[in-house]
Amino acid sequence: MVIMQNLLEKTPLVGHSQDIYQLVQYLEDGKMPELQFEDNMANRKLIEVQKSGDLQLKTIFPDKYLDQEFCQSVPFLPQQRLLSEEEYDRISDIMQTVLKSGQFTSGPFIELFAKEVASFTRRRHVVLTASGTMALLIALCAMEIGPDAEVIMPANSFAATENAVLAAGATPVLIDINPNTYNLDPKQIEALITPRTRAIIPVHLYGNLADIDQIWDIANQYKIEVIADAAQSFGISRLGEKSTMSILSFNPFKNFGACGKGGAIVTDDEVLANLCHQLSYHGFARGQKNVKVASYGYNARMDNFQAATAFARFPFFTYNALKRSYLAYRYIRKLKFLVEKGVLAVPDFHGNHTWHLFTVRILGNFDKRKVQKKLFEQFQVETSHYYPILTHHQNTVLKKTLFSNVYLPNTEAAHKSLLHLPLHNQLTLSEQNRVLEALYAVLN
Ligand SMILES: Cc1ncc(COP(=O)(O)O)c(C=O)c1O
Repeated sequence: MVIMQNLLEKTPLVGHSQDIYQLVQYLEDGKMPELQFEDNMANRKLIEVQKSGDLQLKTIFPDKYLDQEFCQSVPFLPQQRLLSEEEYDRISDIMQTVLKSGQFTSGPFIELFAKEVASFTRRRHVVLTASGTMALLIALCAMEIGPDAEVIMPANSFAATENAVLAAGATPVLIDINPNTYNLDPKQIEALITPRTRAIIPVHLYGNLADIDQIWDIANQYKIEVIADAAQSFGISRLGEKSTMSILSFNPFKNFGACGKGGAIVTDDEVLANLCHQLSYHGFARGQKNVKVASYGYNARMDNFQAATAFARFPFFTYNALKRSYLAYRYIRKLKFLVEKGVLAVPDFHGNHTWHLFTVRILGNFDKRKVQKKLFEQFQVETSHYYPILTHHQNTVLKKTLFSNVYLPNTEAAHKSLLHLPLHNQLTLSEQNRVLEALYAVLN
């Protein structure tokens, strides 16, 4: 810890998940050292708070000492509270600018936001797309992964992951997970590789970095591409490392979102980036409307309007990431007793996590559905499960064909006991206390 502190004091903090992780420890200790933050756009709010001397728990969570009575219920993700007041004002202003300009689709904010994302993620190229789903599809198409190709991916992701593979005409090959991380288990990759395998899609699920080192080594050995689905993990340290391309989602319900749908492909490969640009807009040469250079393309660029909302929100990113991380840390610490009792499992607190979702497992003799019902009916605490139906259990024709022999014991077991607790940028400590009290009451 002392060594890390020295390091941090000398090197400006970029604001990636490892930096945020360290900040949480300082916040908790109440001893914030003199830190230097890199002057990037994502750090603006954090720097402002630091300068005013407010980088401390009681100002970041002003309700800390409020009475419990103020909090009667805890919604999982209240849509009316996605934005802070300050974010709301900034976004309203920028929307006015775009409305007056009439530049709803093409326009300057696409370039501006892409530049900021590239600089923050340390990647050479960022192609903004209409959604994370389209980012994944375009990435696959750019690599000519289509009919005849197999793509290894987990079965517990959002449907977008398998849908992009299917839409490209390729075949998803489902792989089991490591039950401790919920991410694909690299040890199982080799058994699934065939001469048709072209790519692996590790999903950094719930914001937790997949085991990219092992995945990359195996992929290199077999000459397979790695396309990381980082839709839930914007801001993760090592984003884009050990993958040819990574995709992001700026869907408003993600840990960083625009005010509508949006996504991105990030890569260091210039040729692929150019292809992605072309594929995202009708195969047109970049910057030359109606001049085709690729034989086809989609209408799937991010709109200037959405890029503007994301641009307006970006200065709040690391400040919000700090809040999320602190809330995750506090859940883990306060739930320790239930973990030791053997009725609950919580994730490890580490720096390769963006805490898009806070995941627990209900253990012992408790039934997850009953626990979820009690939490809601007796304490008005809403919990959720992302995603309630595994890929191979979805009731489509694939269930009886492609996925009929799929057996994923770790994925199935985790699925039965998994629950997400409320965790979002505007969650208050009073609300979190209510979640904790409800869990203690129900699991005791
Ligand atoms: C793991 C994962 N992949 C892909 C996507 C697709 O992103 P989007 O909703 O922006 O299309 C999402 C989110 O919705 C996701 O959670």
